[in-house]
Amino acid sequence: MAESFYQLLELGTIMSENQPKKRILTGDRPTGLLHLGHYVGSLKNRVKLQEKFDCYFIIADLHVLTTKPEKESILKLRENISQMVIDYLACGIDPQKSVIYLQSAVPAVYQMNLIFQMLISLNRLTGLPSLKEMARNAHMSSESIPYGLVGYPVLQSADILMPRAHLVPVGKDNEAHIELTRDIARRFNMYYGEFFPLPECLLSDVPTLIGTDGQGKMSKSANNAIFLADDAKTVEKKVKGMYTDPNRIRADMPGKVEGNPVFAYHDVFNTDKAEVEDLKSRYREGKVGDVEVKEKLTRALNHFLDPIREKRKYYEQEKGLVDQVIYEGTQKMIEISNETVKEMLSLMGLSGTWKKIAKNAKERMEKQQK
Ligand code: TRP
Repeated sequence: MAESFYQLLELGTIMSENQPKKRILTGDRPTGLLHLGHYVGSLKNRVKLQEKFDCYFIIADLHVLTTKPEKESILKLRENISQMVIDYLACGIDPQKSVIYLQSAVPAVYQMNLIFQMLISLNRLTGLPSLKEMARNAHMSSESIPYGLVGYPVLQSADILMPRAHLVPVGKDNEAHIELTRDIARRFNMYYGEFFPLPECLLSDVPTLIGTDGQGKMSKSANNAIFLADDAKTVEKKVKGMYTDPNRIRADMPGKVEGNPVFAYHDVFNTDKAEVEDLKSRYREGKVGDVEVKEKLTRALNHFLDPIREKRKYYEQEKGLVDQVIYEGTQKMIEISNETVKEMLSLMGLSGTWKKIAKNAKERMEKQQK
């Protein structure tokens, strides 16, 4: 089997010694608390990636406006942003190694977004399945889709190309957006000269975590999530209510382990592998009840979450520190992105035109003053 990128990373095969580190950009819309699905699918990988790469993590608040531009929703983002960054830090994203920044506070985002709009066809954007999906989730009819939502992936391209990132770790649902980012980068390079690397998508090698209801992937909106911020009692309650094998109505009946969410969680979070194997074989033989399997899962999950809860508590009490992390990261990104925009406008010939106009105007104004 071909080793995945993440396996190679673990083996230390992917090294960038003697070469400048490659840059990684990824992030999330600040929609609220993060859950176990986020941890398994992305946070865990980010913590590893920051050891070998220059990492930039975007808090994509402007992307939220593509479906929710009202003022009340913007004001609600403040708390979401803070909670999301607390989750980042509690999981081990280290601001000494990585840049965490707020998208809306970086002026270059708005500038790059406009330039990139010229480099992609409307057809290409309206053909993306993600557009319909996002409109559906936002309960929008096709007639009421805002221009900005069609431009969602263009804005995302601005995020990615801002620090001229090489790699973008995202889920499958974002793959087409990275492809589109490459199209924009390619077009820019073709018109104005080689400038942007063509960023690659980095898909996670772990399957998405199923929700507690066993119906689909874990998500806040489906109400089937266990949050990193949940306390031990809440976890116990959620696990008790979890979906198992629906055909097994008594503990002495053989049950199915495959596709059973309780065992999927045991596989990921229970570090006592012998216990998991024992539970699985007894389950298959009808020699263990759901109660025991769930009790042991609750214990494993709480064991996993305890250190994260500790750190969450610390950052909850140090909100100033959380803001400082965002502030310093954003200042860094403002600097980097201003450089990028300056070079872009210069390659495009836009700043040259303006410079000449300004020079002539100033010379004339000086003469008149004499
Ligand atoms: N589109 C991402 C999401 O699904 C959020 C996002 C915005 C993003 N800008 C990005 C992800 C840049 C990776 C890179 O929530």
